[in-house]
Amino acid sequence: MKPPSASPSSSATLPRKSRLSPYLLSLLAFILFVTILRGEGFLRYIFSSKFNSHRSFHRDQNTSSSTKKKLGERLAYAIGESEKDCDMFQGRWVQDASRPIYEESECPYIQPQLTCQEHGRPDKGYQHWRWQPHGCSIPRFNATLMLESLRGKRMMFVGDSLNRGQFVSMVCLLHRIIPENGKSMDTLGSLTVFSAKEYNATIEFYWAPFLLESNSDEATIHRISDRIVRKGSINKHGKHWEGVDIIVFNTYVWWITGLEYIKILQGSFEDEEKEIVELPTEEAYGLAMESMLGWCTEHMDAKKTRVFFTSMSPSHDKGIDWGRISDGNCYNETSMIDDPTYWGSDCKKSIMDVISEVFSRSKVPITFLNITQLSSYRKDAHTSIYKKQWTPLNPEQVANPASYADCVHWCLPGIQDTWNELLFSKLFYP
Ligand SMILES: *[C@@H]1O[C@H](CO)[C@@H](O)[C@H](O)[C@H]1NC(C)=O
Ligand SMILES: *[C@@H]1O[C@H](CO)[C@@H](O)[C@H](O)[C@H]1NC(C)=O
Ligand SMILES: *[C@@H]1O[C@H](CO)[C@@H](O)[C@H](O)[C@H]1NC(C)=O
Ligand SMILES: *[C@@H]1O[C@H](CO)[C@@H](O)[C@H](O)[C@H]1NC(C)=O
Repeated sequence: MKPPSASPSSSATLPRKSRLSPYLLSLLAFILFVTILRGEGFLRYIFSSKFNSHRSFHRDQNTSSSTKKKLGERLAYAIGESEKDCDMFQGRWVQDASRPIYEESECPYIQPQLTCQEHGRPDKGYQHWRWQPHGCSIPRFNATLMLESLRGKRMMFVGDSLNRGQFVSMVCLLHRIIPENGKSMDTLGSLTVFSAKEYNATIEFYWAPFLLESNSDEATIHRISDRIVRKGSINKHGKHWEGVDIIVFNTYVWWITGLEYIKILQGSFEDEEKEIVELPTEEAYGLAMESMLGWCTEHMDAKKTRVFFTSMSPSHDKGIDWGRISDGNCYNETSMIDDPTYWGSDCKKSIMDVISEVFSRSKVPITFLNITQLSSYRKDAHTSIYKKQWTPLNPEQVANPASYADCVHWCLPGIQDTWNELLFSKLFYP
């Protein structure tokens, strides 16, 4: 075979190189040698940036999976690898009569805001779908494997009510193989703990809608319109996450206030004169992401633990997004959106870009669950009006159900079981 012909630029550099005298070359080598010897920090820098940039942010990219193999590294909990070059988060929903994986009535842990059947939802079609990635399949969720792997361990979901939904879904997927007297669920303030006693394992949820300290942290009364987030306050909540073996973060909807900025508190909430600056949402969100990664770098041992981050959960409040002429939302929607490129208007691409940018610089390996696109299709899967109402409905609302439909949260069983199947897949077959 003929060697590839040299490009003009590379041939142009050749003469210059050959002009370096042997003396000059050895001098350069010596300088480099001394620099390395003296610069311990420099060495560490080279090592860590080379090493970490490959390990961090496990997206299903050709490049990252091939580097992963070259380095022969293995993430904690991994027992295999996913099929090569397959992006699990790109695919389509296919009808599957064997779904749901559990029945709503079989899982006593689902909060009344998510039990759609119990609250009168007339259709069940939304339960009978399976996510099918293009080009590979998701391994079957194996509750035994998951629970055995959690023996003597803690798994914690940290974030907002959407993450609480994913937490409950995980509990529902696992609890059936635990005998009745071997499990319990308790809530104390911001922390909810499901315990599997024989396994000495816990699956927990910690309420921190911004991850950072905020004025919306009260576990039950947190509907505050004037939201304020305190800069650099990750440890306020983070001290409750220490010692966790698998952590699953999310944070999104609370940042989206309808305004383009977020109020950031510089000092403390106790200060008499509060110093507050308004930052563009993306910038403020980026600060929280950085704080979260900083916390992980300090507290999560990459050899033994795993960090997941779930992307934005899309809502379906604006029917015009999917071509409704009149106003309308997810209420009465029983079919999904079939435009593969669909992306709702309240789902900020700019936030996805911030996530992407911050994680690409991450020093800790983060497994990213990119559920936004696959969930965007599912306007049929929200709780809508079929949930416990906290305040009695007024006659106007009763006359116009769409006015009080919840198009943010998801019925269980449902789409969040799929998020956990993806988590399962990435945990054991990264
Ligand atoms: C589930 O995992 C357990 C424990 O690793 C294993 O023994 C079992 O064969 C698995 N079940 C299936 C259906 O793969
Ligand atoms: C139970 O699990 C915790 C971690 O969650 C661990 O610290 C403790 O040692 C375990 N106890 C036993 C008896 O295995
Ligand atoms: C709900 O949707 C069906 C068609 O899918 C339509 O016939 C019906 O009028 C709708 N009901 C309401 C209250 O919008
Ligand atoms: C997540 O998936 C969407 C759509 O598939 C893509 O546009 C986006 O770049 C992905 N995000 C990241 C951070 O990889």
